[in-house]
Amino acid sequence: MPTRSFITQRLLSRHWLGSTITTLIRRLGISVEKYALTDVHLELTNICNLKCAMCPTNRGMQREKCCISFELVKKIVEENPQTQSYGLNDWGEPLLHPQFLKIVEFLKGKGKRVYFATNATLMNEGIAEALVHMKVDSIIFSIDGAYEDYEKIRGSDYEKVKANALNLLKVAKERGVSMRTCIVATVGRENEEAIERLRADWNGIMPVTTQPRLLFRKDERKGLCSQLFRNHVIVLSNGKVVPCCADYEGYLEVGDAWKQTLNEIINGEKMKKLRADSSGTFCDFCSEYKSKEAVDRFKTNPIFRKVKMMVGNVWKCELELHKVV
Ligand SMILES: C[S@@+](CC[C@H](N)C(=O)[O-])C[C@H]1O[C@@H](n2cnc3c(N)ncnc32)[C@H](O)[C@@H]1O
Ligand code: SF4
Ligand code: SF4
Repeated sequence: MPTRSFITQRLLSRHWLGSTITTLIRRLGISVEKYALTDVHLELTNICNLKCAMCPTNRGMQREKCCISFELVKKIVEENPQTQSYGLNDWGEPLLHPQFLKIVEFLKGKGKRVYFATNATLMNEGIAEALVHMKVDSIIFSIDGAYEDYEKIRGSDYEKVKANALNLLKVAKERGVSMRTCIVATVGRENEEAIERLRADWNGIMPVTTQPRLLFRKDERKGLCSQLFRNHVIVLSNGKVVPCCADYEGYLEVGDAWKQTLNEIINGEKMKKLRADSSGTFCDFCSEYKSKEAVDRFKTNPIFRKVKMMVGNVWKCELELHKVV
């Protein structure tokens, strides 16, 4: 039976194109018989030292706070020799895992590609040296504004975070290690205006990419989300498996990595059911790939956008979580 091809995977990783193709595949009644995991996200922990304005982690997340077990990481890697790429975060701050460096060392020792997003507050000189030494492949610094813009959202010290990120770049350069780094700013109405200042502050140092803030509120979803059709799953810190990173509470749980292999889970009945029809699930509450506000916000020109923001409730500043009914 055919496995989804690499080209299809690449196409599906484009948001709008992905959901269009997914809808087309579904309408044509084509089913992919077997998914092969190429990328796994391990939520090292859902504990965090910050309380960012837009993030559910310390603002309403009900899941028990814990750290992933090193034994589980080993089990997953051993069971999935074909999986080459591991992301080390979902919600929570990965550097807070007491065995963070041990997990990185283990994965790199197995020849895996390792990447993660971090708030960089804990990335001291020792950790930077270790990450460069182990040749971690990519690091995303989550910084959503410069100076007071940043501090308003993240409640943390911008200068310190900037110094930590610059130090990592310096160490990598000194050791001649090529590492991909970038800043990712999560953008909502509250920091839209801050992004140009952020870009100016990092000009010539590191690229700044933006991603729309997810909203979690009941809305009409037309068509299935392309996240359900990727060769990718997330293992939450308690071992439960979900299809995507948006599901911060684990509502879409499709398996348990302690009891099943990830291959069994990604090809299992629960995933099949979701791929056939996700209505009535948390997907109804998730703005990923469909938020009209997000699309409009990035498509329209700045003047039109400003007018829209003034006249309409285009983008709310408060964190809106899915309400369990
Ligand atoms: C949840 S954090 C976990 C890793 C780490 N603590 C960090 O801040 O990078 C991963 C990414 O999710 C983003 N994020 C937080 N809340 C979000 C939301 N409501 N919608 C979209 N992205 C969000 C963060 O800005 C960050 O880039
Ligand atoms: S965005 Fe990252 S740093 Fe901020 S609260 Fe969420 S998990 Fe913590
Ligand atoms: S929760 Fe959101 S991102 Fe995840 S599969 Fe559903 S719609 Fe897609």
